[in-house]
Amino acid sequence: MPTATPSTPSSSNVGRGPVPLGSGTAVVGLQWGDEGKGKVIDLLAGSFHAVVRYNGGANAGHSVVINGKRHALHLIPSGAFHPGVRAVIGNGVVLDPDVLFTELDRLADAGVHSLDLLVSDRAHVVLPWHKAEDAAREAGLASGSSGSIGTTRRGIGPAYADKAHRAGAIRVGDLLRPASLREKLARISVGKERVLDALDPSGGVRGSLPSVASLADDLLRTGERLKPFVTDTTYALHDMLARGHGILFEGANATLLDVDHGTFPFVTSSNCSVLGIPAGTGVPGVHLKRVIGVMKAYCTRVGGGPFPTEQDNEAGNRIRERGREYGTTTGRPRRCGWLDLVALRYAVMLNGVTGIALMLLDVLSGFDEIRLCTAYRVGGRMIDRFLPDAETLAEVEPIYEAVTGWKDEIGGCRSRDELPPAARAYVEMIEQATGVPVEIVSVGPDREQTVLG
Ligand code: IMP
Repeated sequence: MPTATPSTPSSSNVGRGPVPLGSGTAVVGLQWGDEGKGKVIDLLAGSFHAVVRYNGGANAGHSVVINGKRHALHLIPSGAFHPGVRAVIGNGVVLDPDVLFTELDRLADAGVHSLDLLVSDRAHVVLPWHKAEDAAREAGLASGSSGSIGTTRRGIGPAYADKAHRAGAIRVGDLLRPASLREKLARISVGKERVLDALDPSGGVRGSLPSVASLADDLLRTGERLKPFVTDTTYALHDMLARGHGILFEGANATLLDVDHGTFPFVTSSNCSVLGIPAGTGVPGVHLKRVIGVMKAYCTRVGGGPFPTEQDNEAGNRIRERGREYGTTTGRPRRCGWLDLVALRYAVMLNGVTGIALMLLDVLSGFDEIRLCTAYRVGGRMIDRFLPDAETLAEVEPIYEAVTGWKDEIGGCRSRDELPPAARAYVEMIEQATGVPVEIVSVGPDREQTVLG
């Protein structure tokens, strides 16, 4: 197992200073997701004992490079491939066993056979009816006046809803108790059939589901395969902390998609900000010593919902093509726009961010002029506060400040001094607006294309 002291040159400099012993560091997205958290986790993970997922499920997507090949992962923490780093799926995650096993198999094919994985016995299981319900509800919304949320259709919302309903939920621990699992599935399926019939009277959705008996058989096989990994991860994490180990919490999705603090209802169904860590792992906030907020140099969003700085024009198209802004989970083209400093300040405040990782700065090379939103105008008034309610946020008009762009490609820069002056000034504007140091600047997809400090 690694010690909590940074061991590699790349990670020792990241975040200025050693990893605090026996404490947590969080990596969290500050916008609407896809900020490049995977690369930041990859840079940091080697210095930690464990990387922990605390929220979301297979709706998240990150790519990791293993033996020179890129793999898209949705559930396994992206830092898990550093030798000796333990991967933990906490109780706050909704776990789709099919996706987990597909990922484990794919990793085995790539030569990763001995993943040190722990799965919480209290994580909730995403079942076929959750995915069916997600799709049926989205179809219903799409035909109405308010439009769909644009979910990933991975069953996330219905699985969290069942967690809140309690009686309709299956947790990982249930997969290890055959008799009670069969009884629970038989009981729950009756209610599920009613819900699916109401959502889709044609019966098509319900008809696509497996029988209760075959679902139970399938889940019991899942339980057998999961058994070696299943444990009380809360105690496991506290044991690690007591031994002085460093733990890295990997946020999935991102702050503006947080169910309580994001642009509701166009959000996901979990607390994706660092506020989700205590509930999603059992580790209280007092252990969280560093929070690395990950942001793009611009903004993107997938799915529906307000996006004040969206550029549905040439500038947005240019960002999309240069940034390869297409979803990892769904392949959908992402909506693109200028950086929103109002939203960014809000996300920094909510997460208690101690350092920023600024990603994809290279995508902005070549613009004559770059715009940043510094305030909103709403009802004739200027405000500098974010409005985390979709209907209210949809009303704001962004107020921009324009800055001169830079022409040169910056993928080869390895220090701030090597960045063109206009790019350096852009980084400093972000530091000034947030009051937080930019500790990492990413200028390309490769590990080496990183400017520290
Ligand atoms: P759900 O999480 O599949 O229910 O989707 C709810 C909303 O969150 C949709 O707009 C999704 O596109 C968005 N979303 C969920 N996860 C991610 C993510 O990891 N990156 C970006 N958007 C996401």
